[in-house]
Amino acid sequence: MTGQMTNKVAIVTGGSSGIGKATAFAFVNEGAKVVIAGRTEETGEQVIRTIKETGGEAMWVKTDVTQASQVEAMVSETVDKYGRLDYAFNNAGSGGKGGWIAELQEEDWNATIDGFLKSVWLCMKYEIPAMLETGTGAIVNNSSVDGQRGFPCDPVYSAAKHGVIGLTKSSAMQYAEKNIRINAVCPGWIQTPPVEQILEHNPDAIKGMLQHQPIRRLGKPEEVAQAVMWLCSDKASLVIGTAMAVDGGYLVV
Ligand SMILES: NC(=O)c1ccc[n+]([C@@H]2O[C@H](COP(=O)([O-])OP(=O)(O)OC[C@H]3O[C@@H](n4cnc5c(N)ncnc54)[C@H](OP(=O)(O)O)[C@@H]3O)[C@@H](O)[C@H]2O)c1
Repeated sequence: MTGQMTNKVAIVTGGSSGIGKATAFAFVNEGAKVVIAGRTEETGEQVIRTIKETGGEAMWVKTDVTQASQVEAMVSETVDKYGRLDYAFNNAGSGGKGGWIAELQEEDWNATIDGFLKSVWLCMKYEIPAMLETGTGAIVNNSSVDGQRGFPCDPVYSAAKHGVIGLTKSSAMQYAEKNIRINAVCPGWIQTPPVEQILEHNPDAIKGMLQHQPIRRLGKPEEVAQAVMWLCSDKASLVIGTAMAVDGGYLVV
């Protein structure tokens, strides 16, 4: 453990899998106490057990980030247990489906926008007041390379991820003077369970993925986690409202 975040408290939504799980471990490694939020108790509790076995401090809060009352409870349980909130990685996302825009149904739109965009707003809505209580904080929202380019396989996902960047920039401007820094990360293709699932069904899909990712390999969740650590740390004290590509060169054109 480096101890740079000792006595600090972080929330990681979707901390039971993939990028969120790697980020939860990275926070623990920096000495922070971590609250992991997600919908599936079993996987969440498993991560908490592993963190505790390595001497870290963590708590699981069952939360659906599309539900305001549950997000509010996630933040209040964090403050009740640990007394403060310093960092948040608003990473959880799911829902909806891709396909031709003219064939999508209203419920597909709503599920994707709720799952990937409204959820980020709800998290910030309740996290920011908790941070204002201590007068400082850093939030990182998880967008995607698809938040900065068109993604014809899943246009509504791309719209939601563009929305995350707009929300990040605008709220960053609102709270900069209040000492709360808000930024986003934009991962490229990262080796997480949903990507592994795609490759299990269609091993050839790797070619299409790496064709656009100049580093010619999938990213590791830990590599995104390190960008989040830096954005949350005091080393990024002047960094506000950025959408940082963590993408093996995907967005370099
Ligand atoms: N992997 C990539 O290549 C990639 C690239 C760019 C951006 N991203 C973004 O990175 C984020 C994480 O993706 P990942 O690949 O790490 O996926 P993942 O391994 O499937 O993890 C998703 C996590 O989010 C949680 N979650 C999903 N919906 C939720 C909800 N409504 N409420 C609370 N928790 C919820 C899941 O737990 P439960 O299901 O138990 O709730 C899980 O812990 C997503 O926002 C994704 O868009 C991923």
